[in-house]
Amino acid sequence: MQPFSFATTAQILCESGSARRLAELCRERGASRVLIVSDPGITRFGLLDGVLPGFAQAGVAVEVFDQVIADPPEPIVLNAVERARALGADLVVGFGGGSSMDVAKLIALLAHPSNSQALKDIYGVGNARGQRLPLIQVPTTAGTGSEVTQIAIITTGETTKMGVVSPLLLPDLALLDAELTLGLPPAVTAATGIDAMVHAIEAYTSKLKKNPLSDLLAREALRLLAANLHEAVHNGQNREARQAMLLGALLAGQAFANAPVAAVHALAYPLGGHFHIPHGLSNALVLPHVLRFNAATAAPLYAELVPLLLGERFQGGSTEQRCTAFIAELAALSERCGLPSRLRDAGVPQAMLPTLASDAMQQQRLLVNNPREVNEADALAIYRAAY
Ligand SMILES: NC(=O)c1ccc[n+]([C@@H]2O[C@H](COP(=O)([O-])OP(=O)(O)OC[C@H]3O[C@@H](n4cnc5c(N)ncnc54)[C@H](O)[C@@H]3O)[C@@H](O)[C@H]2O)c1
Ligand SMILES: [Fe+2]
Repeated sequence: MQPFSFATTAQILCESGSARRLAELCRERGASRVLIVSDPGITRFGLLDGVLPGFAQAGVAVEVFDQVIADPPEPIVLNAVERARALGADLVVGFGGGSSMDVAKLIALLAHPSNSQALKDIYGVGNARGQRLPLIQVPTTAGTGSEVTQIAIITTGETTKMGVVSPLLLPDLALLDAELTLGLPPAVTAATGIDAMVHAIEAYTSKLKKNPLSDLLAREALRLLAANLHEAVHNGQNREARQAMLLGALLAGQAFANAPVAAVHALAYPLGGHFHIPHGLSNALVLPHVLRFNAATAAPLYAELVPLLLGERFQGGSTEQRCTAFIAELAALSERCGLPSRLRDAGVPQAMLPTLASDAMQQQRLLVNNPREVNEADALAIYRAAY
């Protein structure tokens, strides 16, 4: 067996309705001043309405910073750190999608009284030092798995993103409450759900760090996500399906945090950078085309996953037939969920494809994990197929 290491969030609470106990959970951790980090959509939808009253009852001061925007840029993080310092926050809660949770991670680190590091100095792997404030994550999308990953992704330029990667960013508690996701719109449910499925698939085929634990998690994640995506998209009020999606996304997060994602994400990032296509949709647009490219080496692994994807519809067959069925099912998902399935339908100009291919090559951190080597000409061919 290959040696491996595995790290994850210390505690996971998977219980519908549990967000109403958030204040209590903060107090149990010794908190007296809590900063909740969120985005304007979350407050507008009233998702915090059932959560905030508990803080007065628990005698815990609370402030909400709800200025996070999708693909958060640096100034948002720096403003939020100021707010946390002014409050004297002694615990940070990320409450929202991946964007809010990623910002919360960095606030917990940078607003710790002992920390004097600047954000610009901690990008990359293992550059963050010292201590962070206690950190609770409450995902309101079932997608990124940020509640169990040691990375925060920040937009640093017009079209570029950078990650801070450190075990310090692993939260103390992830709280999965389906009640918060009942009103998640179908398009966001679909895109974030497919993002989570991609995390599971790419972890399972990750070239360097795939290991028995990540495999176990990726398989169960894919089973849960595939079995519940349709119901969550088309009947969003189904609490069971929503809770299963949250758990699936978390398990996929645990898998890819330890067996990193690869070319699907590497080719998706430039789409987010240039055209602000949501992260999950960017992944969905390139997914079947990257898998077809990868099949030359990864077909046996895709064939192993197909029963989990198809459930009772699985019909067996040779490795090649199973691999074909796997990719065909994933290729059909976007349309079934009401998402655009071609780059041209997502507003990407054809003339930009070479730029996208060149940008994707910058994602070597991810490409090294791909089961098949991808060069710039390959990337361009994949974008053309996806066009
Ligand atoms: N840290 C990680 O491991 C990791 C992994 C993948 C992606 N990311 C990052 O996460 C971000 C994407 O996160 P995301 O896809 O969760 O989207 P998001 O956090 O950007 O949110 C998308 C939109 O959904 C809305 N929304 C969220 N929950 C809702 C709910 N329950 N009801 C109604 N509306 C709701 C928000 O208001 C927002 O407008 C990107 O910045 C990406 O880079 C991080
Ligand atoms: Fe992702």
